Amino acid sequence: MSPEGGPLSVAVRARVNGRECAEAVPPRLLLCDFLRSRLRLTGTHVGCEHGVCGACTVLLDGEPVRSCLLLAAQVDGREVTTVEGLAPDAEAPSSGSASVSRGAWASVRLLHPRHPDDGQRAARGAPAPER
Ligand code: FES
Repeated sequence: MSPEGGPLSVAVRARVNGRECAEAVPPRLLLCDFLRSRLRLTGTHVGCEHGVCGACTVLLDGEPVRSCLLLAAQVDGREVTTVEGLAPDAEAPSSGSASVSRGAWASVRLLHPRHPDDGQRAARGAPAPER
């Protein structure tokens, strides 16, 4: 038990980039930290940590989500795709304005295959249409 009376860890079983993973994680571990530190998927970047910049965007069951706003425990039983899962051989831009531009690149890469128009809108900073 934690000092607050909750569990010290929770089990997470998920399919990440097509591979099954099972880990015991602290209940409050963010999904972005889980991906980066536990699974070494460092293509998922952390910028604002407030759901604004998009640097941490991943696909959860095929839909783009901000991994800085989700707990790792929330992906139990679900499928996560990071930029590494979409383009295992591709290189993100290595220079320029660090994590935000890399995050924008990742967001466009994650959005484009599913909703080409959304990826183009995201690249321009325009809002997505209502569906
Ligand atoms: S780190 Fe900026 S949206 Fe998640």
